[in-house]
Amino acid sequence: MSDNRRPCLYICTTCTGVAADGVRSAAEYDDAGEQRPGAMLYDAVKQQTDRANGGAPFDVQPVVCLSNCEQGCSVAIAEPGKWGYLLGRVGPEVAEDLFAYGHAYAASGTGTVMRRQRPDSLHHAIVARFPVPGDSAEDEAFHNRTVTK
Ligand code: FES
Repeated sequence: MSDNRRPCLYICTTCTGVAADGVRSAAEYDDAGEQRPGAMLYDAVKQQTDRANGGAPFDVQPVVCLSNCEQGCSVAIAEPGKWGYLLGRVGPEVAEDLFAYGHAYAASGTGTVMRRQRPDSLHHAIVARFPVPGDSAEDEAFHNRTVTK
């Protein structure tokens, strides 16, 4: 795998949280002129990466809907040639933990950050993983190999 790749943490700025948890609807946030929790989470993580001494080892990008609305707030992290991960049920209160997770993901050779290596708030946040295409036969072989748990 190439060494000049960087992970990107995509944060859904349109998420409102989990409806079953009693959060307000998107329309209620919008009618009140208030920032949605997903946008608050993006701002909080972006502030941390902007302030990081020496820079964060990953980029942060806002996105509109990761199609995981029922389990929002939602984020995804991906880097070519690694496994990508979709996380749900995260909110502005876990911004610091997501920042730490981004560091652990960047340091991982495969993208896998085991549960015990993730902050407590993210132990049950993984919704799915997905292959992120790389640019080499080695990348393709990595995603096609048999995984044992
Ligand atoms: S609005 Fe955030 S995942 Fe759909």
